[in-house]
Amino acid sequence: MPTQSNFLGIILKQSEMKPLPANSNDTFENFQNESGIIGRSPAIRQIFETIAQVAPSDIAVLIIGESGTGKELVARAIHKKSRRADKPLIVVNCGAIPEGIIESELFGHEKGAFTGAIGMRKGFFEMGDTGTVFLDEIGEMPLNAQVKILRVLEGNEFSRVGGAEPKHTDVRIIAATNRELDQEIQNGTFRQDLYFRLHAVTIQIPPLRARKDDIPLLVNSFARKFCLQNHINFDGFDDSAFSVMMEYHWPGNVRELKNTIESIIILEKGQRIDQQVMLKHLTFLRPEMRNLPIPVNRPAEKIEREFIYHALLDLKTEISQLRELIFTRLFPPRRLRSWEPDETLIIPHENGEIIYDEPQPDPRSIATLEEMEKKLIEDTLNRFDGNKRKAAKSLKISERTLYRKIKEYNLPF
Ligand SMILES: Nc1ncnc2c1ncn2[C@@H]1O[C@H](COP(=O)(O)OP(=O)(O)OP(=O)(O)O)[C@@H](O)[C@H]1O
Ligand SMILES: [Mg+2]
Repeated sequence: MPTQSNFLGIILKQSEMKPLPANSNDTFENFQNESGIIGRSPAIRQIFETIAQVAPSDIAVLIIGESGTGKELVARAIHKKSRRADKPLIVVNCGAIPEGIIESELFGHEKGAFTGAIGMRKGFFEMGDTGTVFLDEIGEMPLNAQVKILRVLEGNEFSRVGGAEPKHTDVRIIAATNRELDQEIQNGTFRQDLYFRLHAVTIQIPPLRARKDDIPLLVNSFARKFCLQNHINFDGFDDSAFSVMMEYHWPGNVRELKNTIESIIILEKGQRIDQQVMLKHLTFLRPEMRNLPIPVNRPAEKIEREFIYHALLDLKTEISQLRELIFTRLFPPRRLRSWEPDETLIIPHENGEIIYDEPQPDPRSIATLEEMEKKLIEDTLNRFDGNKRKAAKSLKISERTLYRKIKEYNLPF
């Protein structure tokens, strides 16, 4: 799998781009204010430079990064700095649109194109004409739609579903993914030609754990904005709390950091945050961090309570893991069917005789498959605080399927 493409002769990788002049600090500050992208790490500075270089052109950009790293923020910054800034920016979450309607959502449809198409409808590419279309989670795009996106990228042309006539659109495409697209190509779920076309300019956003020098700036910025908006007096963070934040691995990246800061300020009623309070609020604490030393000048009762709290947290995680393990062992998917009343068990008797045993209710019929599925989905969503991407990943289903199931079971997420 080549790492570079020469599609249309465009190769523009971040590392190959000209750095901005040394006195660009002022511009960098402006960029942070305008875009809301906070950070001072070399990675964020590099992203700033790339945005400044690619924004004025119409070149397609692929943004790669784990969930919560700021892909949408970067896409918005490119749009804002482009000549299309006062034109529409259409954000499409490809993973959330049911597969059956994705083409009509993207390209529109003609009247009568399918049952229910009572009138003509414009799609995102037509609505976004002269502006930008941001295709978030492009890895979730079905193959058929991928061909059509390639056609837009190469010739600015598309057809509405049920329409023969080609239409012209002038859109700039920005795409984002948190998946390994080259792996998807090998699996046959992502087109190589589309990948090459998008891959010409890539912006890779490293996970927060790989650019920890951004943490203090982000924390202060989130805390300041949140307190201003909500009229809260906040006593701030101890150095020891910052040490914990620098140590933690932030699996949910900047989104998790922002949510943690905001909830800690509310739940701790604006009081000063020290190491212990900080530890209490981190969701996916690794065992080695739970054993951080506890300051000795704290009341024994408080320390004890916190120990119990952490022990309970551990127990809760273990129980849910156990429950899941038992569930999958007892009910492997291929055996999930309910007991049929006319089923009989044929058991050879010791003397060779065959006896027909009374059918016993199968323990697996204690609940319907739907009930079990609903429960599993609900539990998983709860476990990930309603984060659908993580829940879908854990359930090993696509985000789109998860959205469909949530709707189907009327789950409150
Ligand atoms: N560098 C940053 N500075 C300030 N806020 C940030 C930064 N990066 C991310 N955020 C904030 O974190 C949250 C998540 O960002 P965003 O939605 O852009 O992430 P994402 O990569 O698109 O995530 P997902 O893959 O889950 O869609 C948003 O509230 C965003 O404002
Ligand atoms: Mg996003």
